[in-house]
Amino acid sequence: MPEREAYTWPRADFSRVPYGVFSDSELFDREQERVFRGPVWHYLALEAELPKAGDYRVTYVGTTQVVVVRGDDGAVSGFVNRCAHRGTQLVRDLGGNARDFTCVYHHWCYDRRGRLIGVPFLRGLKGKGGMPRNFEPAAHGLQTIRVDTYAGSVFGTFADATEPLADFLDAPMRDYLDRLFAKPIVVTGYSRQRIPGNWKLYFENLHDVYHAGLLHQMSTTFGLYRATEAGRVTLDKGQRHKVIFSIHGSDDRAESKREYNKIGWLEQTPRLNDMSVFSFTDEFGDRKASNFMALFPSSVYQQLANSLATRQIRPKSPTAFELFWTYFGYADDSPALRQARMKQANIVGPAGFSSMEDGEVGRLVQLGIRGERHAHSVIEMGGVGPIESQDTTLTEVPVRGFWKNYCALMGIVPAGA
Ligand code: FES
Ligand SMILES: [Fe+2]
Repeated sequence: MPEREAYTWPRADFSRVPYGVFSDSELFDREQERVFRGPVWHYLALEAELPKAGDYRVTYVGTTQVVVVRGDDGAVSGFVNRCAHRGTQLVRDLGGNARDFTCVYHHWCYDRRGRLIGVPFLRGLKGKGGMPRNFEPAAHGLQTIRVDTYAGSVFGTFADATEPLADFLDAPMRDYLDRLFAKPIVVTGYSRQRIPGNWKLYFENLHDVYHAGLLHQMSTTFGLYRATEAGRVTLDKGQRHKVIFSIHGSDDRAESKREYNKIGWLEQTPRLNDMSVFSFTDEFGDRKASNFMALFPSSVYQQLANSLATRQIRPKSPTAFELFWTYFGYADDSPALRQARMKQANIVGPAGFSSMEDGEVGRLVQLGIRGERHAHSVIEMGGVGPIESQDTTLTEVPVRGFWKNYCALMGIVPAGA
């Protein structure tokens, strides 16, 4: 029996997770096959990044580099970034516009759909060399990936069996995307961050909302999010994705002060001379200053105050992943609002006032569990048992939804099930 099967998952409700799953290289390879090449859709890019025919971006599904391209017919398609001849990485920049794609090695050339359209010296020279007479260029195109779009986001899947994209997303997630992309957007920039932790630790972090009101002291101190605010976590029907929001300033200040005083924070609250980085313009008219969506298994949509971004999770090894951020605003932004979005981008990102701690705790967990395979984490905040949407953000129930779906794809059956 492979060693990985020896991990124990003692609770059927996924309230215990064996630490070994965060550093196992065999498991990492199996995840690439079952989760990243499995029957799920992965966020790849924003359509706004590909406005014209021939526009392309290099992106990832797990460890596999994928190129998404806008075709002559306006549709977006995608292919694995690997020459069909001898495996060379085909596209070597992050994006641009191309009529076709030529491999640097022996100059095989592919069209925007990944079809092989040119092979130098196909017939050799003076009757010598060249490819066999029966060589069929049509049979040697790039490996394609199934691509679909929803509300301006481009998704891809390697599995034929994956359900339609709209069904995969489910209603609460489609509503979220409809709201966020109700009008044309403009991509304003990118950043990326390498985090020395397992990619699943980051997904746990996203699904565990209440850490934000404790770990991110900048947010709690300056009122961007406190765990005492009203909020909700909504799961999809399969409990794999989640939408979470909190209502700005909705908490009872006296109660909030009492709770936070117990851990000794608000009493020593520092003051900022310039609060503009935390100023929140209620542009959606719903007071949601923190409104996130995490899509299983590899992406996040962020509206934090007026900072808008997508995040893509790119596993690199069992103990490292890259987080890729795409920042955007709306085409009709006033200069002041655009400026505010740029300024608030400092709250998140690699050195973000708030989010650099998420990278750091990934590292700290990895250090804490080093060499440990059989001890378990404890995931009980918000209750054990059924995995359901929650009328509070003081919960880690959605974390169990992540593990339920992960285990289903990986063929892991918890002992108690
Ligand atoms: S490997 Fe690409 S043309 Fe030979
Ligand atoms: Fe966080």
